[in-house]
Amino acid sequence: MKINSVKGMKDVLPTAEGDDAPFNSRLWERVEAVARETFRRFAFDRIRTPVVEEAGLFARAVGESTDIVGKEMYTFPDRAGKKTYALQPEGTAGAVRAFIEHGLGMRDPVQRWWYFSPMFRHERPQKHRYRQFYQIGAESFGVAAPEADVEILAICHSILEGLGLEGIELRLNSLGDAACRPAYLERLGDFLRARREELCAECRDRLDRNPLRVLDCKNEGCRAVTEGAPASYEHLCEPCAAHFARVRAGADALGIPYRLDPRLVRGLDYYGRTAFEFLAGALGSGQQTAVCGGGRYDALVKMLGGPDTPAIGFGMGVERLCALLAQGGGIPAAAPDLFVAIGDDEARDRAMALAARARASGLAAEVDLRGGKLARQLGRADKRGARFAVVIGSAELGSGTARLKEMATGAETAVALDALVDAIPRRT
Ligand code: HAM
Repeated sequence: MKINSVKGMKDVLPTAEGDDAPFNSRLWERVEAVARETFRRFAFDRIRTPVVEEAGLFARAVGESTDIVGKEMYTFPDRAGKKTYALQPEGTAGAVRAFIEHGLGMRDPVQRWWYFSPMFRHERPQKHRYRQFYQIGAESFGVAAPEADVEILAICHSILEGLGLEGIELRLNSLGDAACRPAYLERLGDFLRARREELCAECRDRLDRNPLRVLDCKNEGCRAVTEGAPASYEHLCEPCAAHFARVRAGADALGIPYRLDPRLVRGLDYYGRTAFEFLAGALGSGQQTAVCGGGRYDALVKMLGGPDTPAIGFGMGVERLCALLAQGGGIPAAAPDLFVAIGDDEARDRAMALAARARASGLAAEVDLRGGKLARQLGRADKRGARFAVVIGSAELGSGTARLKEMATGAETAVALDALVDAIPRRT
């Protein structure tokens, strides 16, 4: 019997196209390259934490009442049956666990980390929503100043800009802190309780557990009710209001446009103060339009047993970024600079040596290792999007020259084998 991949979990392949374009490996390479370069410029270090953690970590960090923990986590007992593990549904909890475990709060609380990791959520699979998906994420520990928030927004903005993605809107909110949130929740609760009957069944339940979640509901009726709900950013205590004003001014100063969104509450419990999402209308009109979400979580490190450490971060959905890239400009070819066709078996060693020289000089070179019919080999050079192709056979070995073909124009030039690598212009 044929075994297929698990529902909602996809292969990332160079051949993926059409509906599967978000899983094209060349698009992924591009996204990772832009992310890596952006983080280098911002002087963030890449970390890798295990994809499996104790389930209790997420229950405490993300919150028991969230969908992510309550409904979507992949949990399983360890073989001894003593512990319950979970596949990470998000990256912040593991990063905070590592920060605490390695005593960094004491040594150097200012840690600037990024990751590119798979996340697992047992959601109903649909377009742009998967059960295994990847996030590019960052966590910036140890700085309470609003400039840390601005820097995080700037990183997101730079990655999106570096990928050439346009029409993505930054939504910004402040959720307040332990000083002002209780009073706001009280006020919001009163507002919603007065309209309880108009809310969906789930929201009536949410109302008692966490009224903020009602603001997030996508149900039309609930949205109508929450239209006039009090906005958290209008009910901040003085320090939170000052912080938020500085974040906004900082974003303005860097030319990062945003829109205030009182409904933006995020689906994870650890946030306080700044919360944000980047929404891409081009992903459709449904719920899956967020390419990035994040915010401040100043209370989390302490809550998980570490020293009091402010922190802020974000997570970006790699598949969603790739879906946008595929819409915009299609899928890039692997495009070797030089494609070497093998004229006959006697020339195999020389063909390999030529490719080795090309690679040593920094060019991408591919040899048609199967050899065989020249027309088929050159057809492959074309399909691969090679910039130049050359045939190496006994005749070329005998004469010491070969014809270097520029694939785009079809122009051929005779070049000495020894000079061939240098005859290929570098990419600009
Ligand atoms: P999140 O908003 O749950 O935040 O996820 C971040 C991003 O991951 C979303 O904006 C979306 O692009 C992508 N994403 C989420 N779920 C799925 C899914 N099922 N399929 C495809 N893409 C998805 C977090 O996870 C936080 N840990 C972010 C953070 C880091 N906050 C502070 N630091």
